[in-house]
Amino acid sequence: MFSFFQKKIPLTTLFPADFVDIHSHFLPNIDDGSKSMEESVALLRRMHSFGIKHIICTPHVMESVWENSSEAIQLKLDALNAHLKSIDFTDISITAAAEYMLDSNFEHLLKTEKLRTLKDNYILVELSFLSAPVNLYEILFNIQIAGYKPVLAHPERYSYYHNDFSAYKKLKDAGCLFQLNLLSLSNYYGSAVTAAAQTLLKQQLIDFVGTDTHKHHHLDFLEKIVDGKLIKLIEPILKANAFFGE
Ligand SMILES: [Fe+2]
Repeated sequence: MFSFFQKKIPLTTLFPADFVDIHSHFLPNIDDGSKSMEESVALLRRMHSFGIKHIICTPHVMESVWENSSEAIQLKLDALNAHLKSIDFTDISITAAAEYMLDSNFEHLLKTEKLRTLKDNYILVELSFLSAPVNLYEILFNIQIAGYKPVLAHPERYSYYHNDFSAYKKLKDAGCLFQLNLLSLSNYYGSAVTAAAQTLLKQQLIDFVGTDTHKHHHLDFLEKIVDGKLIKLIEPILKANAFFGE
């Protein structure tokens, strides 16, 4: 029998108007995200249909794989915005930072270049899914000495931390802010990642969220998130993301 309490409310209907997606791959042909201008537009139309109107694109910057310069990212961003204007799709704000892999190339960039920030001095960083760099804490220290604040992308996806939650506390104590992927609330990355996400949320270790959208398949999974318990945990953090649009 249908009852009010059994009603499933999709996460994609709950984004506050001032929500900012701080992790996404909508710039076409620059990394493993959108493959064309048409795909970018279609993905952005779906984001807009969820009520998301502020998006920060964060192309990968990764040694030997995606060595995107700040200038290359800016050119892609300008081209996307020019295209959106040409098709009169202007009820959306698109900017670009980067998702920096903490590798030796990053250590070089940190010394030699101005990094692309989410806002003020906040930078989005990620770790390898295989293992953290041996000098991780030295890198985190150097990031902060250089005047940046590290926002660690999808901490729940680093399986080498799943059996040692004190490692997460240590990262936070070392100055990392945590950005959870909303897709981790679906079964997209598997049940271990969902469990880690839930524990991090319950321990109030998550500061911000992001969609980390690369393709339509990701948005299909985002639309499937209807679990009331998980949504209750995530709702306050959806509000926290407005910080990046202020
Ligand atoms: Fe990403």
